[in-house]
Amino acid sequence: MFASMRFILLFVSAIGLMGCPSTEKSQAVQNMNPSPNPPVNADNPKALIVYLSRTKNTEALAKMVQEQVGGDLVALALQTPYPKNYQAIVRQVDQENQDGYLPPLKNQIADIGQYDVIFVGFPTWDMQLPPPIKSFLNQYQADLNGKMIVPFNNNAGYGMGQSLAQFNQYCRGCQIMQSIELRGGIERDGILFVMKGERANQAKNEIAQWLQDLSANYSVVQQLLQNHAKN
Ligand SMILES: Cc1cc2nc3c(=O)[nH]c(=O)nc-3n(C[C@H](O)[C@H](O)[C@H](O)COP(=O)(O)O)c2cc1C
Repeated sequence: MFASMRFILLFVSAIGLMGCPSTEKSQAVQNMNPSPNPPVNADNPKALIVYLSRTKNTEALAKMVQEQVGGDLVALALQTPYPKNYQAIVRQVDQENQDGYLPPLKNQIADIGQYDVIFVGFPTWDMQLPPPIKSFLNQYQADLNGKMIVPFNNNAGYGMGQSLAQFNQYCRGCQIMQSIELRGGIERDGILFVMKGERANQAKNEIAQWLQDLSANYSVVQQLLQNHAKN
């Protein structure tokens, strides 16, 4: 409840001041000294890109990541889908967060242990991780133990809130890498899909830079980029 009230207050004050959120620039966040397990496939590492997206901005980012590293793309879906109405989903998500409810996923990801790098794309919801992302981390945490988890986020301009800290709350052994945050749409204001045209080009460049930074620190990411560029 607190997080959602904070989101509403932030929204109201931002709208009062300038009509829209102020954070235009994307940010990369460096997390603390992750030391993932050695890759399962050292010469030919495999990437999985898992994402949640309602108005398709995170989906566009997920496809940009896949264009650069290859691998398999999985869109998370719930057994019981969320309401289409924006106010109704905001209420439901707020309640789920208060109750600690993890909605069951429709997806079954076969042999998740075969992947070396797992990208997790999510929009900020209620200034935290969306419940389906929590479900994913919780459901697969045994297989994800020691794995390299690379978050990417988009939000309406208010940042990631508690999201990064929650990765380790729901998946204790996950090794969380440097993440990237981009500005998506503002569904509340009827601004839905924005990852097109110039905005998409800008996001692509930011993602390329972020992947380069990761590859400078982690040879497995370097290998992913090189192998994919060859194919
Ligand atoms: C239930 C819900 C809660 C949201 N809460 C926040 C929030 O706390 N902070 C924020 O910046 N944006 C919030 N948003 C806006 C989304 O992060 C933004 O619209 C994003 O671009 C959606 O990504 P998508 O197009 O991949 O669904 C919320 C959206 C929904 C549907």
